Amino acid sequence: MASRLEDLLQGWDGEEIILRHDLPTNAWIVVAIHSTRLGPAGGGTRMKSYPSLEAAVEDAQRLAEGMTYKFAVSDLPRGGGKAVLAVPSGLRDADRASLLRRYGALIAQLGGLYQTGPDVGTTADDMDVIAETGAPYVFGRTPAHGGSGDSGPATAVGVLAGMRVACERLFGAGALAGRRVVVQGAGSVGLPLLRLLVEENADVTFADPTPRARDQAHAELGVPYLDPETAYDQECDVFAPCALGAVLNERTIPRLRCRAVVGSANNQLATEDDAIRLQERGILYAPDYVVNCGGAMALLGRETLGWSHPEADARIAATVRATLTQVFDIAAAEGVTTVAAARRVAEARLERGAASA
Ligand code: NAI
Ligand code: PHE
Repeated sequence: MASRLEDLLQGWDGEEIILRHDLPTNAWIVVAIHSTRLGPAGGGTRMKSYPSLEAAVEDAQRLAEGMTYKFAVSDLPRGGGKAVLAVPSGLRDADRASLLRRYGALIAQLGGLYQTGPDVGTTADDMDVIAETGAPYVFGRTPAHGGSGDSGPATAVGVLAGMRVACERLFGAGALAGRRVVVQGAGSVGLPLLRLLVEENADVTFADPTPRARDQAHAELGVPYLDPETAYDQECDVFAPCALGAVLNERTIPRLRCRAVVGSANNQLATEDDAIRLQERGILYAPDYVVNCGGAMALLGRETLGWSHPEADARIAATVRATLTQVFDIAAAEGVTTVAAARRVAEARLERGAASA
């Protein structure tokens, strides 16, 4: 009988999985290349502890698939990939840095097949370390090391643009002033998103279980915070998941009291059925990869296409607006979920891009 790992590897529709055990740290390095139809695979490096190797492989696979669609809707010449560094808990700083350097060497060995940047659990400083051995295939280094730095603020620009489109659909006007928005997670994306929402005079609250993140956002912006457990139950116009994946599921969707979900988290839906659950509840869902492409666009645009910071922000807002409008139009006209509509838009661009490549 095939093991669960074999099932995952054999059942995947992506192109390649590179799996390496890092003996000195007992970590697993998983590089998932989902598609190179539009170009070399790009995607962030996620570092965290997983309950099993299978869980790490599955996460890498799902995230890599999301990157394929994200690059397709961003009209950028990249395919989808993702790396997961599945580390034992309590990894010491020195061990962490040496793991990142060995991981960088693996990226260099791949010779450009996979290009990376930050994701949950890694920062611009980590990209500097990975680039010591992995250059030139590392994006999002610190500005001091020639990179464009933290991609969170650029991602927040795209999420904000997505919220405007959703509000236009629901209320006939995209202005966010007075709109009640609940932001789940005040990290690299959530905090700059909160700043933008405060500037827009939205009525914002947020939740974050990490005291440092919570206190920083509250002290800087004065916005009220919620117990993370109650975030789903808040009555609001827009719920913005900016923390973990799989937060929209059969347990949380019945609790939601929002009109729309627009957030940055990758893979927000636990299963495909959750798109139908949201539709049945009349909640307008902005598919994650359509609205969270700002980080990817800023990293590649600023580091390879010569975009200035303001130009990147303008392109991100325009791209999210155009794609999300198209997605909502298809969903409304055909009665399909916004997830199915987004998939169709992305697949069409993949076909077109692959044909012209
Ligand atoms: P981060 O790690 O900087 O921030 C996440 C925050 O969520 C942390 O402050 C954490 O304490 C908080 N959190 C964890 N569990 C929570 C819970 N149950 N309720 C509320 N808050 C909780 O991560 P980052 O970079 O802000 O990314 C957030 C999400 O957006 C991730 O899913 C990431 O994959 C996705 N994303 C990030 C991009 C970027 O440019 N940083 C680009 C595209 C997607
Ligand atoms: N990890 C982020 C994302 O999921 C940003 C990123 C994009 C990093 C592309 C590297 C490459 O979009």
